[in-house]
This record gives sequence, structure tokens and C-alpha cells, in this order.
Amino acid sequence: MNDLIRQGGLRDLEGILSLEKACFPGEAWPRNVFLEDLARPTSFYLVAEIEPRDFQEPTGEHIKQLIGYIACATDPVHRYGHISSLAVDPDHRSQGIGGRLLDDMLALLEAQGIDCLRAETRLSNRHVQEMFRIRGFLETEQIPRYYQNPTEAAVVMIRWPRESGFSQGQRIPPGRHEGGG
Ligand SMILES: CC(C)(COP(=O)(O)OP(=O)(O)OC[C@H]1O[C@@H](n2cnc3c(N)ncnc32)[C@H](O)[C@@H]1OP(=O)(O)O)[C@@H](O)C(=O)NCCC(=O)NCCS
Repeated sequence: MNDLIRQGGLRDLEGILSLEKACFPGEAWPRNVFLEDLARPTSFYLVAEIEPRDFQEPTGEHIKQLIGYIACATDPVHRYGHISSLAVDPDHRSQGIGGRLLDDMLALLEAQGIDCLRAETRLSNRHVQEMFRIRGFLETEQIPRYYQNPTEAAVVMIRWPRESGFSQGQRIPPGRHEGGG
């Protein structure tokens, strides 16, 4: 991890909610979903934040601005993780922040022994699929009408544990479908 990226928690709720609204218009997760998820010990959040140059509180305290986050729900027993969200503020995109959040999350999960990962993206979201593909995720299936507003299929991508012997085109093993979202 570095200056920009740190582990997220309940104190980041408001910043995460604003990012959700900006990045997923029409399908932002509601406050209670984040409240529950942020409190779960098996959920991991990383946030990217910056200190706006010209802004200082009257107290002299600098307020940082959340500009990105990534969330992953895990099942430590099965060493399984579901990357449930990745978002970067529209004004700060294409500067490598999304990639850094994803790389840092993969390193964090590896340190936790989580070695089978799943993520879904909208079918049209080709550059996000590429972000996952170059990090070892493979497309396993498409789920029609998975997303609403607008309705669209999801591309499911899995990163298998190296020793599993699974390869491109194979479906996620039974029992690990839970938690998709
Ligand atoms: C997906 C998202 C998090 C990427 O954040 P970002 O900070 O712009 O990502 P990066 O700058 O690290 O770029 C990631 C890759 O996508 C490419 N990319 C970024 N924006 C792009 C765009 N608008 N069109 C095409 N490619 C783009 C970059 O070139 C980069 O490729 P590289 O790793 O080969 O250099 C951001 O676009 C976002 O919040 N999108 C809306 C929410 C969303 O779709 N989340 C994903 C759901 S799983």
C-alpha cells in the first residue's frame, strides 16, 4: 500500500456513498448495504484518497477526499473472494488509480490466503474486463439481464488458484456461486 491507498472502514461510509452515486447512477447500493458490509470482518475495503491542495478546515485540519474504492467479500473457509465493487471518481479516471486499487486488493487477499476470485462486469464494460484479464481473470460465463438501469448481461470472470488445474472456459465449481452481486 502507499500514501494514496489505505484500508477502508465505517468512517469512509459517506465518501463511498458519494462515489457510488457518481459511478453507478441508477444502480448505486443503498446505505444499509454498505453499513452491514463495512462492519463484516470478512469484507475488505481499500480506498484511494487525496488531500485537496487549497482546502483547509478552520481548525487547520486537512480534509481528504475519497476518489476511489474497491470492495471484496470473502469466504475464508473456502479461500474464496468476490470483488463486489470497484469505482473511481469520474474526474480522476485514467490515471492508474483503478488499477492500483485492484493490484493492492489482490495483494491483500493473497496475504489472507484468498486464492479463488470472482468479479462481474457489464458486458459493454470492455476496458474493465481487460483490467481483470491482464491480472489473470478468465471469462467463464455470461448472465443475461443481470444488471438493471439499463438492463444488460454480466460477464463473470474468475481467477483460479494456480494449483487448481482449472482453465479458461470452465465454470465456477459448485458451492461457490453464493455471494454474487
Ligand atoms: C473501472 C474504473 C474503476 C477504472 O478506473 P481508472 O482509475 O480509470 O482505471 P485506470 O486508470 O487504472 O485504467 C485501467 C485500464 O482501463 C483503461 N481505461 C481507463 N479508462 C478507460 C476508458 N474510458 N475507456 C477505455 N479504456 C479505459 C486504461 O487504459 C487502463 O488500461 P491499462 O491498465 O492497460 O493501462 C472506472 O472507470 C470506474 O469507476 N468506472 C465506473 C464503475 C465501473 O464500471 N466499475 C467496474 C465494475 S466491476
